[in-house]
Amino acid sequence: MTSSAPQPTGLPDSHPLLDGRTASSPLVRAYRGERTSHRPIWMMRQAGRSLPEYRAVREGTAMLDSCLRPDLAAEITCQPVRRHGVDAAIFFSDIVVPLRLAGVGVDIVPGVGPVMDHPVRSAADIAALPELDPAALAPITEAVGLTIAELGSTPLIGFAGAPFTVASYLVEGRPSRDYIHTKALLHDEPELWHRLLSWVARTTGAFLRAQALAGASALQLFDSWAGALTPREYAVASAPHSAAVLASVVDLGVPRVHFGTRTKPLLVAMRDAGADVMGVDAHTSLREANALLGGRTPLQGNIDPELLAAPWAELARHTLAVLADGQDAPGHVVNLGHGVPPTTDPDVLTRLVALVHEHPDPSAAVAQELA
Ligand code: CP3
Repeated sequence: MTSSAPQPTGLPDSHPLLDGRTASSPLVRAYRGERTSHRPIWMMRQAGRSLPEYRAVREGTAMLDSCLRPDLAAEITCQPVRRHGVDAAIFFSDIVVPLRLAGVGVDIVPGVGPVMDHPVRSAADIAALPELDPAALAPITEAVGLTIAELGSTPLIGFAGAPFTVASYLVEGRPSRDYIHTKALLHDEPELWHRLLSWVARTTGAFLRAQALAGASALQLFDSWAGALTPREYAVASAPHSAAVLASVVDLGVPRVHFGTRTKPLLVAMRDAGADVMGVDAHTSLREANALLGGRTPLQGNIDPELLAAPWAELARHTLAVLADGQDAPGHVVNLGHGVPPTTDPDVLTRLVALVHEHPDPSAAVAQELA
Protein backbone atom coordinates (compact mmCIF):
# COMPACT_ATOMS: atom_id res chain seq x y z
CA MET A 1 0.00 0.00 0.00
CA THR A 2 1.33 3.44 -0.83
CA SER A 3 0.31 6.67 0.81
CA SER A 4 0.45 10.08 -0.81
CA ALA A 5 0.73 11.71 2.62
CA PRO A 6 4.02 13.40 3.50
CA GLN A 7 6.27 11.28 5.69
CA PRO A 8 6.88 12.59 9.20
CA THR A 9 10.22 14.32 9.49
CA GLY A 10 10.60 15.81 12.93
CA LEU A 11 9.95 12.62 14.93
CA PRO A 12 12.54 10.29 16.46
CA ASP A 13 13.15 7.05 14.47
CA SER A 14 11.74 5.03 17.37
CA HIS A 15 8.34 6.76 17.05
CA PRO A 16 5.42 4.32 16.37
CA LEU A 17 4.59 6.15 13.11
CA LEU A 18 8.13 5.58 11.83
CA ASP A 19 9.09 2.16 13.17
CA GLY A 20 6.24 0.25 11.50
CA ARG A 21 3.85 0.01 14.45
CA THR A 22 1.02 2.43 13.55
CA ALA A 23 1.57 3.94 10.08
CA SER A 24 -0.66 1.37 8.38
CA SER A 25 -3.26 1.14 11.17
CA PRO A 26 -6.85 1.77 10.02
CA LEU A 27 -6.97 4.99 12.08
CA VAL A 28 -3.86 6.58 10.61
CA ARG A 29 -4.79 5.48 7.08
CA ALA A 30 -8.30 6.97 7.40
CA TYR A 31 -6.85 10.20 8.82
CA ARG A 32 -4.54 10.31 5.77
CA GLY A 33 -7.59 10.14 3.51
CA GLU A 34 -7.63 6.45 2.60
CA ARG A 35 -10.60 4.11 2.78
CA THR A 36 -10.03 0.97 4.84
CA SER A 37 -11.85 -2.40 4.67
CA HIS A 38 -13.85 -1.43 7.74
CA ARG A 39 -14.06 1.92 9.41
CA PRO A 40 -11.94 2.61 12.49
CA ILE A 41 -13.77 3.76 15.62
CA TRP A 42 -12.82 5.40 18.93
CA MET A 43 -14.97 7.51 21.25
CA MET A 44 -14.33 10.82 22.95
CA ARG A 45 -14.29 10.28 26.74
CA GLN A 46 -13.97 6.52 26.18
CA ALA A 47 -11.70 6.48 29.25
CA GLY A 48 -13.78 7.63 32.14
CA ARG A 49 -16.69 7.12 34.45
CA SER A 50 -18.63 4.73 32.19
CA LEU A 51 -15.99 2.07 33.03
CA PRO A 52 -16.05 0.30 36.44
CA GLU A 53 -12.30 -0.36 36.11
CA TYR A 54 -11.78 3.42 35.75
CA ARG A 55 -13.84 4.17 38.85
CA ALA A 56 -11.85 1.52 40.75
CA VAL A 57 -8.37 2.87 39.93
CA ARG A 58 -9.44 6.51 40.38
CA GLU A 59 -10.82 5.84 43.88
CA GLY A 60 -9.26 8.31 46.33
CA THR A 61 -7.17 10.19 43.73
CA ALA A 62 -8.23 13.64 42.48
CA MET A 63 -8.71 14.00 38.71
CA LEU A 64 -5.69 16.22 38.02
CA ASP A 65 -3.47 14.15 40.34
CA SER A 66 -4.45 11.04 38.32
CA CYS A 67 -3.45 12.82 35.11
CA LEU A 68 -0.01 13.57 36.56
CA ARG A 69 0.74 10.03 37.79
CA PRO A 70 2.26 8.37 34.70
CA ASP A 71 1.40 4.78 35.74
CA LEU A 72 -2.23 5.70 36.41
CA ALA A 73 -2.63 7.84 33.29
CA ALA A 74 -1.20 5.01 31.15
CA GLU A 75 -3.42 2.39 32.79
CA ILE A 76 -6.61 4.48 32.30
CA THR A 77 -5.66 5.29 28.68
CA CYS A 78 -5.40 1.57 27.86
CA GLN A 79 -8.59 0.43 29.63
CA PRO A 80 -11.06 1.15 26.78
CA VAL A 81 -8.74 -0.46 24.21
CA ARG A 82 -8.64 -3.68 26.24
CA ARG A 83 -12.38 -3.70 26.92
CA HIS A 84 -13.93 -2.44 23.67
CA GLY A 85 -11.27 -3.16 21.02
CA VAL A 86 -11.39 0.45 19.79
CA ASP A 87 -8.97 1.42 17.00
CA ALA A 88 -7.20 4.11 19.04
CA ALA A 89 -6.51 5.18 22.57
CA ILE A 90 -6.87 8.82 23.56
CA PHE A 91 -4.39 9.97 26.16
CA PHE A 92 -5.97 10.27 29.60
CA SER A 93 -5.42 13.87 30.59
CA ASP A 94 -7.39 17.11 30.43
CA ILE A 95 -7.31 20.40 28.56
CA VAL A 96 -6.43 22.21 31.82
CA VAL A 97 -3.42 19.97 32.64
CA PRO A 98 -0.94 22.32 30.89
CA LEU A 99 -2.33 25.21 32.98
CA ARG A 100 -1.67 23.24 36.19
CA LEU A 101 1.83 22.33 34.91
CA ALA A 102 2.56 26.01 34.27
CA GLY A 103 1.58 26.80 37.87
CA VAL A 104 -1.90 28.24 37.38
CA GLY A 105 -4.33 27.51 40.25
CA VAL A 106 -6.92 25.16 38.70
CA ASP A 107 -8.83 22.14 39.89
CA ILE A 108 -11.40 19.81 38.35
CA VAL A 109 -14.43 19.67 40.61
CA PRO A 110 -16.33 16.35 40.26
CA GLY A 111 -19.59 16.84 38.39
CA VAL A 112 -18.73 20.48 37.59
CA GLY A 113 -15.53 20.62 35.56
CA PRO A 114 -12.51 22.96 35.61
CA VAL A 115 -12.61 25.70 38.28
CA MET A 116 -9.90 28.38 38.59
CA ASP A 117 -8.66 29.78 41.91
CA HIS A 118 -8.99 33.26 40.34
CA PRO A 119 -10.63 34.16 37.02
CA VAL A 120 -8.17 35.78 34.58
CA ARG A 121 -9.70 39.03 33.29
CA SER A 122 -7.44 42.05 33.81
CA ALA A 123 -4.13 43.15 32.30
CA ALA A 124 -2.47 42.31 35.63
CA ASP A 125 -4.04 38.82 35.70
CA ILE A 126 -2.73 38.14 32.19
CA ALA A 127 0.73 39.54 32.91
CA ALA A 128 0.97 37.24 35.95
CA LEU A 129 0.39 34.02 33.94
CA PRO A 130 3.54 31.90 34.38
CA GLU A 131 5.48 30.51 31.40
CA LEU A 132 5.42 26.70 31.23
CA ASP A 133 8.83 25.22 32.04
CA PRO A 134 9.38 22.40 29.48
CA ALA A 135 10.76 20.23 32.33
CA ALA A 136 7.29 20.28 33.92
CA LEU A 137 6.04 18.15 31.00
CA ALA A 138 8.04 15.12 32.23
CA PRO A 139 4.99 13.28 33.69
CA ILE A 140 3.24 13.63 30.32
CA THR A 141 6.21 12.34 28.33
CA GLU A 142 6.64 9.46 30.77
CA ALA A 143 2.94 8.50 30.68
CA VAL A 144 2.90 8.54 26.86
CA GLY A 145 5.98 6.28 26.83
CA LEU A 146 4.35 3.75 29.17
CA THR A 147 1.13 3.87 27.17
CA ILE A 148 2.60 3.23 23.71
CA ALA A 149 4.69 0.36 25.12
CA GLU A 150 1.43 -1.41 25.99
CA LEU A 151 -0.54 -0.31 22.90
CA GLY A 152 1.79 -1.81 20.29
CA SER A 153 0.11 -1.34 16.90
CA THR A 154 -2.89 0.57 18.29
CA PRO A 155 -2.26 4.29 17.78
CA LEU A 156 -2.35 6.77 20.65
CA ILE A 157 -4.09 10.11 20.04
CA GLY A 158 -2.63 13.09 21.87
CA PHE A 159 -4.75 16.18 22.42
CA ALA A 160 -4.99 19.70 23.73
CA GLY A 161 -7.69 22.31 24.20
CA ALA A 162 -7.85 25.07 21.60
CA PRO A 163 -6.95 28.54 22.89
CA PHE A 164 -10.56 29.84 22.83
CA THR A 165 -12.01 26.90 24.77
CA VAL A 166 -9.20 26.93 27.36
CA ALA A 167 -9.41 30.73 27.65
CA SER A 168 -13.15 30.50 28.28
CA TYR A 169 -12.40 28.51 31.47
CA LEU A 170 -9.63 30.95 32.51
CA VAL A 171 -11.83 34.01 32.00
CA GLU A 172 -15.14 32.69 33.34
CA GLY A 173 -13.34 30.90 36.19
CA ARG A 174 -15.60 27.85 35.77
CA PRO A 175 -17.83 26.15 33.16
CA SER A 176 -20.23 28.66 31.59
CA ARG A 177 -23.33 28.59 29.43
CA ASP A 178 -23.19 32.13 28.08
CA TYR A 179 -19.47 33.15 28.06
CA ILE A 180 -20.39 36.70 29.16
CA HIS A 181 -16.97 37.64 30.57
CA THR A 182 -15.15 35.92 27.71
CA LYS A 183 -17.14 37.76 25.06
CA ALA A 184 -16.76 41.06 26.95
CA LEU A 185 -12.97 40.66 27.00
CA LEU A 186 -12.69 39.71 23.35
CA HIS A 187 -14.91 42.59 22.20
CA ASP A 188 -13.92 45.33 24.65
CA GLU A 189 -10.21 44.63 25.16
CA PRO A 190 -8.97 42.98 21.97
CA GLU A 191 -5.34 43.68 22.76
CA LEU A 192 -5.59 41.94 26.16
CA TRP A 193 -7.57 39.12 24.58
CA HIS A 194 -4.84 38.41 22.03
CA ARG A 195 -2.17 38.54 24.74
CA LEU A 196 -4.14 35.96 26.75
CA LEU A 197 -4.74 33.70 23.75
CA SER A 198 -1.08 33.88 22.74
CA TRP A 199 -0.13 32.64 26.21
CA VAL A 200 -2.68 29.79 26.01
CA ALA A 201 -1.51 28.86 22.49
CA ARG A 202 2.14 28.61 23.68
CA THR A 203 1.24 26.62 26.77
CA THR A 204 -1.23 24.23 25.18
CA GLY A 205 0.97 23.92 22.07
CA ALA A 206 3.92 22.72 24.20
CA PHE A 207 1.65 20.09 25.82
CA LEU A 208 0.48 18.89 22.39
CA ARG A 209 3.96 18.74 20.89
CA ALA A 210 5.34 16.83 23.88
CA GLN A 211 2.72 14.09 23.36
CA ALA A 212 3.57 13.73 19.66
CA LEU A 213 7.32 13.60 20.27
CA ALA A 214 6.83 11.01 23.03
CA GLY A 215 4.85 8.71 20.73
CA ALA A 216 1.32 9.90 19.88
CA SER A 217 0.42 8.92 16.29
CA ALA A 218 -2.30 11.57 15.84
CA LEU A 219 -3.30 14.80 17.57
CA GLN A 220 -6.72 16.31 18.26
CA LEU A 221 -7.35 19.96 19.07
CA PHE A 222 -10.57 20.33 21.08
CA ASP A 223 -12.33 23.66 20.52
CA SER A 224 -15.42 22.28 22.24
CA TRP A 225 -17.07 25.64 22.81
CA ALA A 226 -16.14 27.38 19.52
CA GLY A 227 -19.80 27.08 18.50
CA ALA A 228 -20.52 29.92 20.97
CA LEU A 229 -18.76 32.27 18.51
CA THR A 230 -20.18 33.84 15.36
CA PRO A 231 -18.12 33.17 12.22
CA ARG A 232 -16.76 36.73 12.43
CA GLU A 233 -15.84 36.38 16.12
CA TYR A 234 -14.22 33.05 15.33
CA ALA A 235 -12.17 34.48 12.45
CA VAL A 236 -10.90 37.47 14.42
CA ALA A 237 -10.67 36.27 18.00
CA SER A 238 -9.95 32.57 17.81
CA ALA A 239 -8.79 31.14 14.47
CA PRO A 240 -5.33 32.80 14.41
CA HIS A 241 -4.47 31.26 17.79
CA SER A 242 -5.72 27.76 16.88
CA ALA A 243 -3.77 28.11 13.63
CA ALA A 244 -0.63 28.89 15.67
CA VAL A 245 -1.10 25.71 17.74
CA LEU A 246 -1.72 23.54 14.66
CA ALA A 247 1.27 25.10 12.87
CA SER A 248 3.50 24.41 15.87
CA VAL A 249 3.30 20.65 15.18
CA VAL A 250 3.10 20.63 11.37
CA ASP A 251 6.79 19.70 11.04
CA LEU A 252 6.09 16.40 12.85
CA GLY A 253 3.82 15.08 10.06
CA VAL A 254 1.35 13.68 12.61
CA PRO A 255 -2.33 13.87 11.46
CA ARG A 256 -4.13 16.78 13.14
CA VAL A 257 -7.85 16.57 13.93
CA HIS A 258 -9.87 19.68 14.85
CA PHE A 259 -13.16 19.27 16.74
CA GLY A 260 -15.83 21.46 18.24
CA THR A 261 -19.57 21.34 18.92
CA ARG A 262 -22.26 23.28 17.02
CA THR A 263 -19.62 24.28 14.48
CA LYS A 264 -21.50 23.95 11.18
CA PRO A 265 -20.94 27.66 10.34
CA LEU A 266 -17.26 27.32 11.34
CA LEU A 267 -16.26 24.02 9.73
CA VAL A 268 -14.41 25.52 6.78
CA ALA A 269 -12.61 28.11 8.94
CA MET A 270 -11.62 25.40 11.43
CA ARG A 271 -10.24 23.21 8.62
CA ASP A 272 -8.41 26.18 7.14
CA ALA A 273 -6.78 26.89 10.51
CA GLY A 274 -4.56 23.94 9.61
CA ALA A 275 -6.45 20.71 10.30
CA ASP A 276 -5.96 17.53 8.29
CA VAL A 277 -9.22 15.99 9.58
CA MET A 278 -12.45 17.59 10.82
CA GLY A 279 -14.37 16.23 13.80
CA VAL A 280 -18.12 16.78 13.42
CA ASP A 281 -20.71 16.80 16.21
CA ALA A 282 -24.16 15.23 15.99
CA HIS A 283 -25.85 18.48 14.89
CA THR A 284 -24.41 18.34 11.34
CA SER A 285 -24.68 15.26 9.13
CA LEU A 286 -21.41 13.94 7.73
CA ARG A 287 -22.87 14.24 4.23
CA GLU A 288 -23.48 17.95 4.77
CA ALA A 289 -20.07 18.45 6.43
CA ASN A 290 -18.36 16.72 3.50
CA ALA A 291 -20.19 18.98 1.02
CA LEU A 292 -19.33 22.12 3.02
CA LEU A 293 -15.67 21.07 3.07
CA GLY A 294 -15.58 20.46 -0.69
CA GLY A 295 -15.18 16.68 -0.41
CA ARG A 296 -11.47 16.89 0.31
CA THR A 297 -11.18 16.55 4.09
CA PRO A 298 -11.37 13.26 6.03
CA LEU A 299 -14.09 13.32 8.68
CA GLN A 300 -14.52 12.00 12.20
CA GLY A 301 -17.88 11.46 13.86
CA ASN A 302 -20.73 11.58 14.67
CA ILE A 303 -22.99 9.12 16.50
CA ASP A 304 -25.38 11.03 18.76
CA PRO A 305 -24.25 10.30 22.36
CA GLU A 306 -27.84 10.73 23.55
CA LEU A 307 -28.79 7.58 21.64
CA LEU A 308 -26.35 5.43 23.63
CA ALA A 309 -29.17 4.98 26.16
CA ALA A 310 -31.82 4.24 23.49
CA PRO A 311 -33.00 0.71 22.62
CA TRP A 312 -30.24 -1.16 20.70
CA ALA A 313 -32.23 -1.33 17.45
CA GLU A 314 -32.52 2.45 17.39
CA LEU A 315 -28.82 2.99 18.15
CA ALA A 316 -27.82 0.41 15.52
CA ARG A 317 -30.07 2.04 12.89
CA HIS A 318 -28.62 5.47 13.67
CA THR A 319 -25.05 4.10 13.53
CA LEU A 320 -25.63 2.55 10.09
CA ALA A 321 -27.03 5.91 8.92
CA VAL A 322 -23.83 7.60 10.18
CA LEU A 323 -21.75 5.03 8.24
CA ALA A 324 -23.79 5.77 5.11
CA ASP A 325 -23.41 9.53 5.58
CA GLY A 326 -19.64 9.13 6.00
CA GLN A 327 -19.38 7.07 2.83
CA ASP A 328 -18.38 9.82 0.44
CA ALA A 329 -15.78 11.59 2.56
CA PRO A 330 -12.14 10.92 1.62
CA GLY A 331 -11.69 9.08 4.94
CA HIS A 332 -14.05 8.37 7.83
CA VAL A 333 -13.17 7.61 11.44
CA VAL A 334 -16.27 6.77 13.44
CA ASN A 335 -16.71 8.58 16.75
CA LEU A 336 -19.50 10.10 18.81
CA GLY A 337 -20.67 13.65 18.22
CA HIS A 338 -19.31 14.48 21.71
CA GLY A 339 -18.12 12.56 24.78
CA VAL A 340 -19.45 9.30 26.26
CA PRO A 341 -21.97 10.23 28.99
CA PRO A 342 -20.78 8.86 32.38
CA THR A 343 -23.98 6.81 32.85
CA THR A 344 -23.49 4.83 29.60
CA ASP A 345 -23.63 1.03 29.87
CA PRO A 346 -20.11 -0.02 28.75
CA ASP A 347 -21.49 -3.18 27.09
CA VAL A 348 -23.36 -0.93 24.65
CA LEU A 349 -20.04 0.69 23.68
CA THR A 350 -18.43 -2.72 23.10
CA ARG A 351 -21.38 -3.76 20.93
CA LEU A 352 -21.20 -0.51 18.98
CA VAL A 353 -17.50 -1.05 18.19
CA ALA A 354 -18.30 -4.59 16.97
CA LEU A 355 -21.15 -3.30 14.78
CA VAL A 356 -18.87 -0.76 13.07
CA HIS A 357 -16.11 -3.35 12.60
CA GLU A 358 -18.50 -5.91 11.09
CA HIS A 359 -19.78 -3.42 8.54
CA PRO A 360 -17.58 -3.51 5.42
CA ASP A 361 -16.79 -0.17 3.81
CA PRO A 362 -18.15 -0.26 0.23
CA SER A 363 -15.90 2.65 -0.77
CA ALA A 364 -12.85 0.54 0.09
CA ALA A 365 -14.16 -2.27 -2.14
CA VAL A 366 -14.62 0.17 -5.03
CA ALA A 367 -11.11 1.58 -4.47
CA GLN A 368 -9.75 -2.00 -4.53
CA GLU A 369 -11.53 -2.81 -7.81
CA LEU A 370 -10.20 0.35 -9.43
CA ALA A 371 -6.63 -0.34 -8.23
O1 CP3 B 1 -11.29 9.56 27.16
C1 CP3 B 1 -10.96 10.70 26.80
O2 CP3 B 1 -11.62 11.39 26.00
C2 CP3 B 1 -9.60 11.24 27.26
C3 CP3 B 1 -9.56 12.10 28.33
C4 CP3 B 1 -10.14 13.51 28.32
C5 CP3 B 1 -10.63 14.09 29.51
N1 CP3 B 1 -10.91 15.40 29.27
C6 CP3 B 1 -10.76 13.38 30.79
C7 CP3 B 1 -11.74 13.88 31.77
C8 CP3 B 1 -10.19 14.48 27.33
C9 CP3 B 1 -9.82 14.36 25.85
C10 CP3 B 1 -10.68 15.67 27.95
C11 CP3 B 1 -10.82 16.95 27.24
C12 CP3 B 1 -11.65 18.01 27.83
N2 CP3 B 1 -11.70 18.43 29.15
C13 CP3 B 1 -12.48 18.86 27.08
C14 CP3 B 1 -12.65 18.78 25.59
C15 CP3 B 1 -13.54 17.64 25.24
C16 CP3 B 1 -14.98 17.87 25.53
O3 CP3 B 1 -15.52 17.09 26.33
O4 CP3 B 1 -15.55 18.79 24.95
C17 CP3 B 1 -13.09 19.76 27.97
C18 CP3 B 1 -14.07 20.85 27.60
C19 CP3 B 1 -12.58 19.49 29.26
C20 CP3 B 1 -12.89 20.18 30.54
C21 CP3 B 1 -13.53 19.24 31.48
N3 CP3 B 1 -12.84 18.32 32.25
C22 CP3 B 1 -14.92 19.04 31.72
C23 CP3 B 1 -16.03 19.84 31.09
C24 CP3 B 1 -15.03 17.96 32.63
C25 CP3 B 1 -16.30 17.27 33.08
C26 CP3 B 1 -16.77 17.58 34.44
C27 CP3 B 1 -17.65 16.43 34.94
O5 CP3 B 1 -17.32 15.92 36.01
O6 CP3 B 1 -18.61 16.05 34.26
C28 CP3 B 1 -13.73 17.54 32.94
C29 CP3 B 1 -13.37 16.42 33.83
C30 CP3 B 1 -12.89 15.20 33.14
N4 CP3 B 1 -11.97 15.17 32.15
C31 CP3 B 1 -13.28 13.88 33.45
C32 CP3 B 1 -12.55 13.04 32.59
C33 CP3 B 1 -12.56 11.53 32.54
C34 CP3 B 1 -14.25 13.45 34.54
C35 CP3 B 1 -13.44 13.32 35.80
C36 CP3 B 1 -14.03 12.33 36.76
O7 CP3 B 1 -13.89 11.12 36.52
O8 CP3 B 1 -14.59 12.81 37.74
